[in-house]
Amino acid sequence: MAKAKKTERICSFCGLPIPEDEFLIAGLNGMICGDCVRAVTKIMHDVELEKDSRKNSPVKIKLMKPHEIKERLDDYVIGQEEAKKVLSVAVYNHYKRLMQPSTGEDAEVEIEKSNILLIGDTGTGKTLLARTIARMLEVPFCIADATVFTQAGYVGEDVESILSRLLQAADYDVAKAERGIVFIDEIDKIARKGSENPSITRDVSGEGVQQSLLKLLEGSIVNVPPQGGRKHPEQQFIQVNTQNILFVGSGAFNNLEQIIGERLNTKVIGYNTQSRRFDSSDMLQYVSAQDIRQFGLIPELCGRFPVITSLHPLDSKALKQILTQPKNALVKQYVKLFKMDGIELHFEDEALDYIVEKAVELKLGARGLRAIVEKIMTDAMYDFPSIHKTKMLLTRDYAQQQFENSIFATLPE
Ligand SMILES: Nc1ncnc2c1ncn2[C@@H]1O[C@H](COP(=O)(O)OP(=O)(O)O)[C@@H](O)[C@H]1O
Ligand SMILES: [Mg+2]
Repeated sequence: MAKAKKTERICSFCGLPIPEDEFLIAGLNGMICGDCVRAVTKIMHDVELEKDSRKNSPVKIKLMKPHEIKERLDDYVIGQEEAKKVLSVAVYNHYKRLMQPSTGEDAEVEIEKSNILLIGDTGTGKTLLARTIARMLEVPFCIADATVFTQAGYVGEDVESILSRLLQAADYDVAKAERGIVFIDEIDKIARKGSENPSITRDVSGEGVQQSLLKLLEGSIVNVPPQGGRKHPEQQFIQVNTQNILFVGSGAFNNLEQIIGERLNTKVIGYNTQSRRFDSSDMLQYVSAQDIRQFGLIPELCGRFPVITSLHPLDSKALKQILTQPKNALVKQYVKLFKMDGIELHFEDEALDYIVEKAVELKLGARGLRAIVEKIMTDAMYDFPSIHKTKMLLTRDYAQQQFENSIFATLPE
């Protein structure tokens, strides 16, 4: 702050002359009159007030409409229209629930959350959906793998560690974490032992873990170890209220088709002679809470997932689209890799068909695609950077030859 020379007393802000006795602030290249300073102070004050009020209101996030959310999902996930719709609505409602006023006449109607259960074969896009949602959201999001959980007291992770991860995603802002979204992958792996599901061989998981999970889902205050594990017994617990946290469960639920088929009184393979026809190639679409219960989830936990939706098996057409269409499609990735070596890579359409055929044989859904393409491309990626070539056309013959000659006769999962 300094006094300006008498001859130059013009406010650089409003352009008016500043009287001799009037207060001013002068900088190196200009000056501001008292009136302007007062006006700006008032504006700044209002801006701060507005900021504060937003801080204290329930939530200050941008509301993305279901259509917008789904469009974003479409960029990365092929097909699975129903699952995308259900998720988009769930996320939208989650935001709305967070914004609901806590006072006023609408306050009496409390919007409850609807956790979602996604069911679908391996490699159909369950985790991809979760990751894509995570990327676009403005609320904290974490993915937890149910297979690592064990009952309290056993070696392994406590269910509460899910919330540690969510806290981390929220930069340890508890209020923020309390409105986050948690994705629990492989939830079918904690089904009750000895139920319809023969694949469960674990001892310390199952029902005990389900009970602990139930507590989180029900909406309660949970003591969360900030670091997750049990290695730091001295650490202080952080209390997290799970009432507004949205949970999305996901799993392949192997052999669930059989359970559904039996309930519908039709065989999974073959036809049914009843009045209603069921599509035996996609039995999961008829899933109900009852089937999930029979699979081995305890009824209380099933009850906490009011929305169940299934992902469809991916057919050849979808697999081919997955190779080329998503924003980070496999083919685009390889083209980019080669481009970095100055090589223009082009996949012949028939070569793509070959890759799809192999993926269908493997029955790994889209999961098999990468492994197959990797096998086909390994030699080229090894040789090309050292030889002077600027173009590569990937033909079906080349793809087949590379795939069949690859060192590993069978693909790892
Ligand atoms: N519907 C889909 N659209 C695009 N890519 C997919 C789709 N489903 C699977 N993929 C691809 O396959 C891989 C495995 O999918 P993932 O979502 O992990 O399967 P899962 O259903 O077993 O969780 C992903 O990395 C993704 O690239
Ligand atoms: Mg997965």
